[in-house]
Amino acid sequence: MNHTGQDIDPHVVAITGASSGIGWELARKLAADGAHVALIARRAERLSQLEAQITATGGVARAFPCDLTDTAAIESLPDRIGEALGAPHVLVNNAGRGAHGAFEAVDLATHHQVLTINLDSVIACTHAFVPQMLARGKGQIVFVSSVLARLPAPEHAVYAASKWGVSGFAESLSYELGPRGVEVVLVEPGLVRSEFAAQASTPLARYRRVPSKSSAQAADEVHWAMRRNARHHIADRVVASLIGVKRHWPRFFRMIFAVAYRRVKRQQP
Ligand SMILES: NC(=O)c1ccc[n+]([C@@H]2O[C@H](COP(=O)([O-])OP(=O)(O)OC[C@H]3O[C@@H](n4cnc5c(N)ncnc54)[C@H](OP(=O)(O)O)[C@@H]3O)[C@@H](O)[C@H]2O)c1
Repeated sequence: MNHTGQDIDPHVVAITGASSGIGWELARKLAADGAHVALIARRAERLSQLEAQITATGGVARAFPCDLTDTAAIESLPDRIGEALGAPHVLVNNAGRGAHGAFEAVDLATHHQVLTINLDSVIACTHAFVPQMLARGKGQIVFVSSVLARLPAPEHAVYAASKWGVSGFAESLSYELGPRGVEVVLVEPGLVRSEFAAQASTPLARYRRVPSKSSAQAADEVHWAMRRNARHHIADRVVASLIGVKRHWPRFFRMIFAVAYRRVKRQQP
């Protein structure tokens, strides 16, 4: 993969949230490309399983179990990865979680956990990995945000806030880092079938009419964006059109969105 317009072979890619869903599938794709992948998440046994799977097919992967709410652990990651695989060229900020429910019914500690993993840890990881990339004058930071950074998400309001934060952070950072050789890639997927909904207690049956993608399809979108250094990729055409409606006809958008939300709420979970 030519991720910065220069040939780097093999390149080292650190992926957070590699123990399931989009991160798991993306790690497999990048390893198949020849990247050496550093697999980061809390569930060590899952990471070892993926490491074994990639190694068995001739790829190079190494598990780095880490709780991304632990800032000291994040700070040590670039050196730990550097010793095992070589200095990382690419960081994929993919780990995340949600918490479904009426805003006032979800306890404040849970709201804070969502912000910590989705936004604080993304800033901390980027802060930890960027200096080495800037020193080399090349690299790539990938942000897996969400279309909910552009659209309202009732009953996922704090999740939406975290993703608005991620997208704003990524977009702003791209102006700072791009001219210094570090590309920023921002991907905003729509609904993805992964462990996310169960973890967030989202009553998925209510959203059965919303188009969704498999984790492998979502990983394909991220992979595509990485290969092209796409600064902003909304990985869902229907949602991209909705965002256009919101921007140009906000009152009309509010009306149709409110009707759609009432219908969703009426569905049995
Ligand atoms: N699913 C969707 O509909 C959807 C839509 C748009 C965007 N996204 C975004 O896509 C990304 C990946 O989500 P997914 O759908 O693949 O969900 P997923 O299967 O639940 O994966 C989430 C990953 O984040 C990791 N993670 C969570 N908390 C962590 C922590 N404290 N420390 C380290 N790792 C942690 C999990 O690993 P461990 O539990 O092993 O730590 C897991 O590997 C997230 O940022 C999500 O917000 C998802």
